[in-house]
Amino acid sequence: MFRVLQLSRRALPLLFLLGPIHLVAQFASPVPNPASADRGDAIYAKSCAKCHGDDARGTATAPDLLRSLAVLHDRLNSLHGKELAPILAAKPVHGLSFSDAEILDISQSLTRSVNKILRTGYSNQPTDLLKGDKTAGEAYFNGAGGCNKCHSTTGDLAHVSKKYDVATLQQKFLFPNSGVRGVRTAAAPVVKKTQVTVTPAGKPAISGELVRMDDFTVTLRDATGQVRTWTILPTTKVKTDNPYAGHVALLEKYTDTDIYNLTAFLETLK
Ligand code: HEC
Ligand code: HEC
Repeated sequence: MFRVLQLSRRALPLLFLLGPIHLVAQFASPVPNPASADRGDAIYAKSCAKCHGDDARGTATAPDLLRSLAVLHDRLNSLHGKELAPILAAKPVHGLSFSDAEILDISQSLTRSVNKILRTGYSNQPTDLLKGDKTAGEAYFNGAGGCNKCHSTTGDLAHVSKKYDVATLQQKFLFPNSGVRGVRTAAAPVVKKTQVTVTPAGKPAISGELVRMDDFTVTLRDATGQVRTWTILPTTKVKTDNPYAGHVALLEKYTDTDIYNLTAFLETLK
């Protein structure tokens, strides 16, 4: 059980590594099928709510599913429950057995619930987005969130709210490598690529743009444009530099209140 969870936890940072290359298009549109999500809601109410809470926000006995990396990963990658199934089957915590169709419905239900809190636009109530406290948001920006270590409200983020509508602004700080819907200015932001350096034992190091990496192989595009792949042996050194790592780490940290407060604060940067 624990191992399954750990694997899925590792998957999200990986997703961010890969995101700029081929997941950006999927990122913006995890639109659940309403009928399937409704069926999933019913399964959820019957089989999950007593531990994870009616709203999936967790209870004293089970974690918040809308902040679960496994659930977010499922949603972003449109996995339709493929990786949730082993988590639900694993004992002793779950030991639940579902058909593929039921797993799909559960995935669609959780995806819809996550969309609601992320306000990606599909079930958007724009007025809610600004319900946070901008002063608390500013304090978080310069304090607990550590945003000011990488950003400046008079520098790179000086006019950030002119660039995006509110929903996109929120999406942008939650997932800065996501797509660029709702951009207000002509200049669309550039999605930065993860860099990687591979050093096979006894060979020179080679660096380039990360194309793909899993537990077994790593592929990069070097400065000449050549694509090269290595098997990752225990002796192979692989070092990645994901420009969005700071944001990936923050996903585990924010509470809903922090997110609303930050959105309200960032919206003042006109
Ligand atoms: C008997 C209580 C219980 C029920 C019922 C239950 N869960 Fe869980 N679930 C847990 C506990 C406890 C954990 C944390 C286990 C751990 O971290 O090792 C967990 C973890 C999870 C995780 C991983 C969360 C993470 O950390 O990323 C997912 C996903 C999940 N549950 C989904 C579901 C779904 C969907 C259902 C209904 C089909 C369900 N669970 C039913 C208790 C329950
Ligand atoms: C470790 C460094 C780091 C930290 C900490 C960090 N960010 Fe970022 N942030 C980045 C990088 C890198 C980008 C991508 C910017 C780019 O491509 O120019 C980014 C992008 C953004 C964007 C989108 C900007 C745009 O113009 O598209 C927003 C908004 C943002 N961050 C807000 C925040 C907030 C709010 C926090 C704190 C909760 C935070 N960031 C913490 C590094 C960081």
